[in-house]
Amino acid sequence: MNREQRIDYIVKNSLLTSSEAQGFDDYRAPDENQQRVFSEMIENYIGNFPIPMGVVTNMVINDEIFIVPFVTEESSVIAAASKAAKFWAERGGFRATVLGMVKKGQVHFTWNGKPQLIKELFPVIKEKLFDATKALTEKMRQRGGGITAIHLIDKTEELPDYYQVDVSFETADAMGANFINTCLEKISSVLQDISELNSDECSVEIIMAILSNYTPECLVRCWVECSVEKLEGWNKKLSYNAFATKFKQSVDIANLDISRAVTHNKGIFNGIDAVLLATGNDWRATSAAVHAFASRDGKYKGLTTGRLTDKTFTYELEIPLAIGTVGGITGIHPMVKNSLAILKYPDAQKLMMIAASAGLASNFAAIASLITTGIQAGHMKMHLSNILNQLSASHLESEEARNYFSDKEVSYAAAEEFIGQLRHKMN
Ligand code: MEV
Repeated sequence: MNREQRIDYIVKNSLLTSSEAQGFDDYRAPDENQQRVFSEMIENYIGNFPIPMGVVTNMVINDEIFIVPFVTEESSVIAAASKAAKFWAERGGFRATVLGMVKKGQVHFTWNGKPQLIKELFPVIKEKLFDATKALTEKMRQRGGGITAIHLIDKTEELPDYYQVDVSFETADAMGANFINTCLEKISSVLQDISELNSDECSVEIIMAILSNYTPECLVRCWVECSVEKLEGWNKKLSYNAFATKFKQSVDIANLDISRAVTHNKGIFNGIDAVLLATGNDWRATSAAVHAFASRDGKYKGLTTGRLTDKTFTYELEIPLAIGTVGGITGIHPMVKNSLAILKYPDAQKLMMIAASAGLASNFAAIASLITTGIQAGHMKMHLSNILNQLSASHLESEEARNYFSDKEVSYAAAEEFIGQLRHKMN
């Protein structure tokens, strides 16, 4: 089916009306070539789906100032991260460092020979695998990446005859999923052809070859630090000592209680996912990796660590983020290109540091609000525009409502009542 046929099909087979379906045309790119990029990016394409894009300013990371593009549907996320960014910019900014860039993938296979034999043969097999992938890795090696290690892992005690060829990669500034999977599929085909492993008595059966989204060795750490008294200033309601103590307690709670840990980590993703969306990265992969990492001790925990001494407050986030600034849709999506330009064309390591700092800023702002004013006051103020749009408030009505609610608690019911009364008065 072409696009029109698909839309017709949907209208005939769902509750979508044909006039509603015309909305799919509203967000088409005016430039034909650009529109073709979107139409061909996925399958069964019907339209473009807009999500707002904004920026977090005053983000100081390792003494460099960034304007950070955020793509998010959630009001108050950008306000919160911006508040934290400014707060920390006045206290030395964020510090960040990349601890590793190794990504992995595995060929999962069975072999019905003696485990000792395959282990003895493996050093020679490994060289064959390196040789067989040389052409595929050449360009990546020129960019400083490639295959850095190949290991055989014996899993026969967990599943009969089951082994893995575990391959480590460096993928320079690319996320590298296609590169990794291409290399792994080549390795699979070579394994099936190795005469010592494939005879009348025994053979390799490939189950699958795929990268692992668990990337604990592709790791970034970022942190903020200041003297305790410098915490004065977030909110007048709490002294700096009480702020520091309650902050530390909330981080400890996220480490001991899963109900809180998940929400705590969600606040980190408010920032990380917004940056990953803006820069065209695979946020499903990083989410899967980070949540697994949060459970690496056998218990799901908060991803941040707080340290508090008499004098110093330190707040740190360490997470795996396998992301890239080249490849994927980075070169074809116009907004992704703009995001990378706004960030002054970072390499992958710098983007890891920016995304992690955006996560820490979002989480810091959430905790700081939760232990002082509570989250709703700020959130609902920002959400007022959505409520007004839902009530189809005119420009004038919205202005009136914003003035009215500037010093009052916002709720849907209160806004509805206010607009109702206003309309009643005007009629
Ligand atoms: C809301 O988007 C995020 C928070 O719930 C995070 C948190 O509770 O730490 C405020």
